[in-house]
Amino acid sequence: MIGSKGDLRVVVITGASAGVGRAIAQEFASQGWWVGLMARGRAGLAGAQADVRKRGGAALVLPIDVTDAAAVERAAQEVMQHWGQIDLWINAAMATVLAPVSRITPDEFRRVTEVTYLGQVFGTQAALRHMRRQGRGTIVSIGSALAYRGIPLQAPYCAAKFATRGFLDALRAELLHEKSPVRLTEVHLPAVNTPQFDWARNKMPHRAQPVPPVHQPEAIAQAIYRAALEAPREVWLAGSAVRAIIGDAAAPALVDRLLAQDGYSGQQTEDLAHERPDNLFEPMDDLEDHGASGRFGDGARTYVTAYRPVQLRAAGMAIGFAVLYGATRLLRALTPSKEATKRSRPRKGS
Ligand SMILES: NC(=O)c1ccc[n+]([C@@H]2O[C@H](COP(=O)([O-])OP(=O)(O)OC[C@H]3O[C@@H](n4cnc5c(N)ncnc54)[C@H](OP(=O)(O)O)[C@@H]3O)[C@@H](O)[C@H]2O)c1
Repeated sequence: MIGSKGDLRVVVITGASAGVGRAIAQEFASQGWWVGLMARGRAGLAGAQADVRKRGGAALVLPIDVTDAAAVERAAQEVMQHWGQIDLWINAAMATVLAPVSRITPDEFRRVTEVTYLGQVFGTQAALRHMRRQGRGTIVSIGSALAYRGIPLQAPYCAAKFATRGFLDALRAELLHEKSPVRLTEVHLPAVNTPQFDWARNKMPHRAQPVPPVHQPEAIAQAIYRAALEAPREVWLAGSAVRAIIGDAAAPALVDRLLAQDGYSGQQTEDLAHERPDNLFEPMDDLEDHGASGRFGDGARTYVTAYRPVQLRAAGMAIGFAVLYGATRLLRALTPSKEATKRSRPRKGS
């Protein structure tokens, strides 16, 4: 049990009106949590509130833009006034632009960085202020395999995800230094079927798509729920994310070339993109609720495996040692010993 007041457990989620954040809100509500819902779009937030209530949870709608640090702090205070505690805070809000670096304007770079990176920073700071006073709490950062490996057409988003990792590394060391009981957990995601691909700004000729294999947001939300309760340092979801992260660590130049070849087509469908509004500066779910899922549900996976990098690293080291040990034994077996060499050397005069 995380909460201190009997059964009451409170989670705050940024980006809760749609996509992964919305699915997380549904999952926590199903498990009896009270949920603070942060995002901009009124219809999306109302939909999320209805989802939470339908599942028996209590919901507090907090309409804010995560780039406004003061608004995020005010919303956190509102949660404290209503429910008196924040046990968990999950930063999921994001924005991106699909385009090559040469076609992204300074304003677009700034905005993606502010939403995707600074949104996580401001959320974390607001959560910390209250959790420090409470003497407990967990902050979960929703990351991506792209926090480890940049891909073409998503430079500002990948950079923001990398930056978030750097920020959390620094903060984690500070919390350890202070002997703080507050815990930080990063959950790095694979491709997920969310509305993102139909409302993010797209400057490419074709419509955007998640790079397969694609996962349903509900499966991802269940894994995030488990990670949030266990609160390890990091969790990587799905073999595809693990391969991207480890592949890049092992052979980055090869991955550069693979992405140069497939990274453009892999992120676009065959359909031509058409003029449409996007959610970069204003929400697209202010009047219409878009829910958790996107239009890539066909064949999307309804399960996901969670990997702990610490276990993967240990397994990698064990395999490395085993290979080294085996190679040494083999080399010894194949190399004749000094005795044997002496014995087989022909004696002088014989
Ligand atoms: N989908 C994937 O394939 C994938 C892969 C790896 C990682 N992830 C991660 O999963 C998380 C969610 O992504 P998603 O695919 O669910 O995105 P999404 O479908 O585009 O949803 C984004 C959410 O963020 C909110 N948001 C956007 N700008 C905001 C702002 N300025 N202030 C407050 N809220 C804002 C949106 O609501 P409003 O517009 O109503 O504000 C919405 O609730 C992100 O952290 C992302 O990096 C996703």
